Amino acid sequence: MAYENITVETRGHVGLITLNRPKALNALCAALIKDLGQALDAFEADDEVGAIVLTGSEKAFAAGADIKEMQGKTYMEAYLSDFITDGWERITTCRKPVIAAVAGYALGGGCEVAMMCDFILAADTAKFGQPEITIGTIPGAGGTQRLTRAVGKAKAMEMVLTGRMIDAVEAERAGLVSRIVPAADLVDEAVKVAERIAGLSRPIVMLAKESVNAAFETTLAQGVTFERRLFHSTFATEDQKEGMAAFAEKRQPNFKNK
Ligand code: CAA
Repeated sequence: MAYENITVETRGHVGLITLNRPKALNALCAALIKDLGQALDAFEADDEVGAIVLTGSEKAFAAGADIKEMQGKTYMEAYLSDFITDGWERITTCRKPVIAAVAGYALGGGCEVAMMCDFILAADTAKFGQPEITIGTIPGAGGTQRLTRAVGKAKAMEMVLTGRMIDAVEAERAGLVSRIVPAADLVDEAVKVAERIAGLSRPIVMLAKESVNAAFETTLAQGVTFERRLFHSTFATEDQKEGMAAFAEKRQPNFKNK
């Protein structure tokens, strides 16, 4: 399928989505969000794809929601259309892992979309920020919530109240990104990590993702119980038997996603 605002390709068992609206630094207009949703739907439905990478350009992962598109919206238009809900939250419902590979600006909605992914790999050029306060609004795609959970109140509050950007080093130190890689290697490295995940047992990967995500929604005791039940359920899979047999027999496992 041809898209206007993104490019899509499959590398091995990895679905690679590249935001591609260079004139607006990948600002997240409605059409782009629709393209992104359709691409995610397609990769989720493709049995050959085990993990997804979402990236942008060297200059910008995404510079936020499209300010020019939204500037004239009335309150009633924003409310009745549930602006920033439809489509935007598609990433958070993906069952396959989604890795954000961020180079350049990830601002406002761009930072929020990156944070909706399962983890963020940052190029050394990456810059993260929630500058909405400087244009008379506040983050609307989860920034005040996910950033606070990722980096804690002090840094999140400073970023949200001042719009200050942080670079890749500060983002890694704060726990916003899993690690930093040279910009030139970013996409290859992200695809490599995704390919490694795609080579594991898909149902077990999905259970692991579900379990980590439960940490954001539950008390510790509830989360640990949920994890324990999912852990128990892995013993019902052929892949658990294969994985442990392969370890004991000193060979590589041959997972069948069963
Ligand atoms: N929306 C619409 N257009 C945008 C945009 C955005 N978020 N960000 C950049 N652009 C456009 C610029 O208007 C410009 O277009 P023209 O060439 O037609 O003028 C083009 O992209 C290039 O941008 P700049 O000339 O500004 O590039 P720069 O290198 O000088 O600056 C930047 C880069 C610092 C990222 C700057 O573009 C900027 O501050 N962008 C806006 C960042 C922002 O405020 N994001 C938050 C948006 S609100 C939001 O996201 C709400 C939410 O929570 C969902």
